[in-house]
Parts: sequence; structure tokens; C-alpha cells
Amino acid sequence: MCGIVGYIGEKPAAPIVLEGLAKLEYRGYDSAGIAVYDGKEIITKKAAGRLAVLENLTHSGENMPGFSAIGHTRWATHGVPSDLNAHPHTNGDGTIVVVHNGIIENYMALKNKLLGKGYSFASETDTEVLAHLLDYYYKGNPLQAITKVLHRVEGSYALGIMFADHPEELYAARKESPLIVGHGEDGCFIASDVPAILKYTRKVYYLENQEIAMLKKDEVSFFTVDEEPTEKQAVTIDWDANAAEKAGYEFFMLKEIYEEPKTVTDTISPRIKNGEVVIEELNMTDDELKAISRIHIVACGSAYHTGVTAKYIIEGMLRIPVEVDVASEFRYRDPILSPSDLVIVVSQSGETADTLEAVRESKAKGLKVLAIVNVVGSSIARESDSVFYTWAGPEISVATTKAYSAQLAAFYLLAIRFGRARGVIDDARMKSLLEDLQALPDQIELLLGQKEKIQHFANRYIAAKDVFFIGRGIDYAIGLEGSLKLKEISYIHSEAYAAGELKHGTISLIEPGTLVVAVATQPDLFAKTVSNIEEVKSRGAFVMAVAERGRKEIEKAADYVLYIPHTNPYFANSLAIIPLQLFAYYVSVGKGYDVDHPRNLAKSVTVE
Ligand code: G6P
Repeated sequence: MCGIVGYIGEKPAAPIVLEGLAKLEYRGYDSAGIAVYDGKEIITKKAAGRLAVLENLTHSGENMPGFSAIGHTRWATHGVPSDLNAHPHTNGDGTIVVVHNGIIENYMALKNKLLGKGYSFASETDTEVLAHLLDYYYKGNPLQAITKVLHRVEGSYALGIMFADHPEELYAARKESPLIVGHGEDGCFIASDVPAILKYTRKVYYLENQEIAMLKKDEVSFFTVDEEPTEKQAVTIDWDANAAEKAGYEFFMLKEIYEEPKTVTDTISPRIKNGEVVIEELNMTDDELKAISRIHIVACGSAYHTGVTAKYIIEGMLRIPVEVDVASEFRYRDPILSPSDLVIVVSQSGETADTLEAVRESKAKGLKVLAIVNVVGSSIARESDSVFYTWAGPEISVATTKAYSAQLAAFYLLAIRFGRARGVIDDARMKSLLEDLQALPDQIELLLGQKEKIQHFANRYIAAKDVFFIGRGIDYAIGLEGSLKLKEISYIHSEAYAAGELKHGTISLIEPGTLVVAVATQPDLFAKTVSNIEEVKSRGAFVMAVAERGRKEIEKAADYVLYIPHTNPYFANSLAIIPLQLFAYYVSVGKGYDVDHPRNLAKSVTVE
């Protein structure tokens, strides 16, 4: 989603803001802009396309002198991606300048009111309404005008605002969309996310809903929407700036795939103590865990796919019924929830709008919500009853890899913890589960060693038009994610099918040479999936299979086999997904695409 960076301080502001925006590129965007106060007035420059276009236009900020600036990368919602619709937006004479992330839901009513008062609009955006509404209320006191506007607008926003006649100040406000304030040696910052400002400061304030910040070059103050001053505690960011850099890899996605062994270790290891799974942050007693009668897993995208996997594990291992919902469906289908149900939401960013609403909906109905989240202090983390942090570190590539693996690991731990509390995992089984769990990072490492083999295979398929992924049970869930990875970064149409369902329609799409990826890791379902491989083979498909080492018999059916090490079948996703992530990655690289920034996609989807 959109990225915001603002700076006021001792140094030239534009280069700092542009550099910060570059660190937020991972959020996805289609245009960019910047406004700088040059000592006399506010100069605004903006352009559709990549940040490089804006950097060229401004000579990396050098031809925009000044010590305060706000910048923005826009992911279009209201109005097409264009120079005019790009932020910042201004009032009529350019003395009030606004950047915005979110959606002003009542912007049409406000726009009509302002048109009636003689205001004219240059763009199709909801954001421009804010600039004119600020103008309408502005009587020389910025804070007063901002609070009046915030009382009038409905929807979500993270805002950066400058007033030409208050050049020593920069303003920020938020509701629902994330925004942080940083306090550094040489100035103060606003940003949508920490990596944008980490080079300059680790002292960060997380703005709460409807909070306003006033930044000066050496101080920050906070206010409520009623202009009351508030006290806030700064948080010290303890992760390394290098964690947000590419570290020599061609793309963040490959770097993040290579981080998976560490990610899985970081998620699992601290939670295994003396042969037991200890999840302190769960805040639930054994009796509470025993009382759970149903689990609802709610998430979007890849996080949803971890939920599909978890359903097989939790139902299989614990015999607790599990419903898995895409968050945007859960919200509006009036789900049947009972007080003994537990809701588990999963989100890397912790900001996905539909998942956040699912948290609110569930809490409003009196249910306890457990969130599996990566981004610390994110909205979902803050609003849920308990938070299981995946500790995967910042994930920059839009297509998730390491956060997905961490979410799977989180589900394994939760399933084991629940199983112990409910008395369904005895000591012998516990020991074997933990052994298999703790072996995963090394096994993932081994699979990463097959990268050349997968690259070679991927190069043969860069011209593919359609690919089908098939599997049964957990193998079907693996296929869902393998297929999503491929289509989102290579733009090859691909579909995942429950292998047994294929003959009910999809098999008519198989033509000579069509690639079918068959996942066959589940011992109980292996023979069935092999039969499905035979079915597509006899229609001319080329079959690449992913199977457990030792299952040589699959070579009779499939054309090409990638083997994964032996593990507990419940954990197979963590291994089988690695070659599929690498396959998608190398197809995208082979096609010459910008792997980390697939077209039309956003890392963090903060609108519904
Ligand atoms: C976007 C991303 C996906 C991600 C989904 C859910 O669509 O492109 O990779 O799986 O959002 O994001 P979350 O941050 O809630 O896990």
C-alpha cells in the first residue's frame, strides 16, 4: 500500500525523503511524489510510475532544496495511477500540502460541499478533499484545522501535512492506516514503516488511532483529536538496518527464501523448553484450551493458505473442528460463532484491512482472538487478545516466503501445545513431533542446495501459458501456495486443484505439454495422487512431482521428481514449499521480471 515519509530537520530534506520512500517500495505503488518547503513556498513534484521517475525529475532531491519535506508512493484506489492523482495534493494556492494513505469514505459528500463553496479539484482522488477541507477550516492554527477535518472525515488515513505559513512544523495523523514518528539527532521523521527511517533513528513512536503529531526539527508533540496534548512512550527498534537490505542477493525474494531456515528456527526454538512447547504469549490456561469447541482461522492470501494447512493438522491431530475463511468473506457472511470458539487470524503485515475487521467482528461478538502476526506493534497485533509473533523479521518482497514458513511453524507449535493441554499427544509422540519440528531448518537448508536444479527446470517453463498444481490433503494446501507464488510473480496462469477434483472439469484443459506440478508428500494419499498423475499423463501433461525421499515408485508416473527429506506428514508443507517458491522465483527471473514488485500487487493491503 501507499508509503509515506516526512522529514524536518537540519539536513536537506528531499534526498532523505526519497531514500526513505525507496525503503518502502516493497509496499507496492504506482506513482510517487514529494513536497519541499524551499524557504519561501512549498514546491511539489510528482509522477506516475516507479520512484526512479521522480528521482530523475528531482535529481535525487538535489534540485529541491529545503529542510522539511513530505513524500509519498501511491497505490491507486480512487482514480487511476497518473501524475495528477499522485500525492502530495494541495489546496488551491499550494499553501497546504497533504499526503495520505487510506480511504476517505465520505469524500464524495465532502467534495460536493466544497464544490458548492467554490473549491475546484485537480484530481480524482479522495485525498484532495482533505487538502481543500483543511483550507476551508484553516484560520492560522494548523492543529485546529486538522482536528476539525478529522472530525468530519470517515474512513482510514495516515497523513503527512505541511502548511506554508508554519514552515517550522510538520504534522501527522492516523486512523487505521499505520504511521510512525521518529526522533533523530538531526531531525524528526514520519513514515509508514520503520525501514524508511532506520538509517537515521531507532527512537520511534507508534501513532494511535486519531492521534496527531506535531514535528519540529528537534521535538515532537502529540495531541488527541480534541487538541488535548498527550504523552507517548518511544520504542527503541532493536533490529538491524541490514535486515531490510538485499545483502548481495539479486532480489529480496531470494534473500528471504534463504532466510527461511533461520526464520523457522527463530519461531520455533524459543518456544521449546525442556521438551515442551511453551507459548507464554498465548495467555490461555490448559482448561481454556480444553474448552475450545471450534476454531475459525481467518486470513488473506498466503496467510490464508497456512490456515488451510492448519485445518488438516488441527482436525487430524486434535479432532477440533476448524473453519478456514478468507477474511473478506468472513466479515460479511455473518459467521456462526459460539462463545467456546477461538478465532485465529494470520497476517504477516498485521495491517491487512479485512483481517483487521475480522478481529473486530469476532471481538464484538465476544470471542477471543489469537493473532499470528509478523510485524510487531501492528494494528492486528494491538487489537487481538493474544499475539503469537512469528519473528520472521521485515519481509520486503511482495510475494511472501519466509513469513509464510514462519506462520506454518507457528501453527505446528500451537497444534502441539493445544494437543498437550487436551491430552491427545502422549510423551512418546511429543518427543517424535519435536524432533521432526527441530529438524526442519536443516532440512530446508538441504533443499536450498537444490537451487541450480530447480533453476534449470524453471528455465524450460518460462514460456508456459497454464500450469496446474494438484495434491490431496495437506498436499492440496501446498499446491494452493505453490500456484499463488507462480502466478503472482511470473504472470503465468496457474491453478491449484484437489487432485481428486481434477477430473470434474479441469482435466479438459490439459493439453500435450501442459505442466502439472503434483505434490505427493502425504503417505496415506500417495497412491491416490499417483493415479491422478497417471490421468494427466495420459492426456499429454508433463508432470513434475514433489515427493518424499525414498518414494522412487513415483518416477514411473512423473517425468521429473524433486525429493524432500522425511518428516512428520503434518510438517511436509514446510519442506515441499521450498522448491515451489524457488521454481516461481526462477521462472520470474527467467522472464526478466521485477520479482520483488509484481504488477498490481501490494505487500500490505490496507483497504478492503
Ligand atoms: C497481500 C500480499 C500477500 C499476502 C496477503 C495477506 O495480498 O501480496 O502476499 O499473503 O496480502 O497479507 P498479510 O500481511 O495479512 O499476511
